[in-house]
Amino acid sequence: MTWFHHALVTGGAGFIGSHLTDRLVENCEVTVYDDFSNGDADHVPEEASVIQADVRKRKPLADAVAEADVVFHEAAQVSVQQSVSNPKSSQEVNVDPMLTILESARDTDTRVILASSAALYGHPIYLPIDEEHPKEPTSPYGLEKLTADHYCRLYHDLYEVETVALRYFNAYGPRQQGGDYSGVISIFRDQALANDDITVEGDGEQTRDFVHVDDIVQANLLAATSDDAVGKAFNIGTGDSITIRELADTIKNVTDSESDIVHVDSREGDIDRSEASIDKAREVLGFQPEYTVFEGLRDYLGQGRP
Ligand code: UD1
Repeated sequence: MTWFHHALVTGGAGFIGSHLTDRLVENCEVTVYDDFSNGDADHVPEEASVIQADVRKRKPLADAVAEADVVFHEAAQVSVQQSVSNPKSSQEVNVDPMLTILESARDTDTRVILASSAALYGHPIYLPIDEEHPKEPTSPYGLEKLTADHYCRLYHDLYEVETVALRYFNAYGPRQQGGDYSGVISIFRDQALANDDITVEGDGEQTRDFVHVDDIVQANLLAATSDDAVGKAFNIGTGDSITIRELADTIKNVTDSESDIVHVDSREGDIDRSEASIDKAREVLGFQPEYTVFEGLRDYLGQGRP
């Protein structure tokens, strides 16, 4: 296992990127690249240097990559819904900067770790979903992540760039922002704590594999330091799933909320079932998630209580 000296974290002020930066600064020099459109400067540890810029700006991004031994590319437009409303602007954030990073890495031997997504699989034809599962994304977001993920493999195969794609299932944890376009756990949490209606979209029978942000950080550190990881893609989840209705009930109970659970329209492009096979990540990376969803929710909701 080889450690690195200088890491670049795009989206380093954001939800996953800031947790990763917190861990990285304990071991190496870290540069955070963020435009603070979504991220929060208060979440960036003072040991990290900051480049305040948009990932769509090619030169500052390429220069920052050239300075680093490893890039964790976490910056993204993360909302499936927003990609459906505006595919072009979503593509500009989720795909083009990937090429800027890979082109720069091609010249500099920088390792590139991509925050890829389970959304690239689309509706599963079998469960759990392994990395070989057919990829038929049902949203522009899923297609964008598939494109970026596949570019990682191509740049490894064609140009020997050290790339790893980590296909996150549904991430949650402290610092995930609420609001309409955030992940469902942070939305339900805010609704439950305010005693507002908890809005289950559709029948609530859709399932997700919710993975705690600390486990995502663990996977990134393993991907950056393992020689066997390069050129490969890995599912990062818990290997288990729950329905959205079960999630709503659990969050209501854990927070002692008086909210009603109501059903509203389902979403366009929504995936009906999702559960990861994490065998490959276990075998190749030594990945071992520390939180089940129920443990993780207790941790996350415990912190959020008034
Ligand atoms: C999420 C991520 C995406 C990631 C993908 C991987 C967010 C915003 N999106 O997409 O970046 O790549 O997982 O699997 O984190 N729901 C409700 N009520 C609400 C909000 C959501 O019922 O108020 C439902 C949705 O209809 C959906 C499920 O919860 O069925 C999950 O939605 P969401 O948290 O937005 O995540 P994904 O669309 O799975």
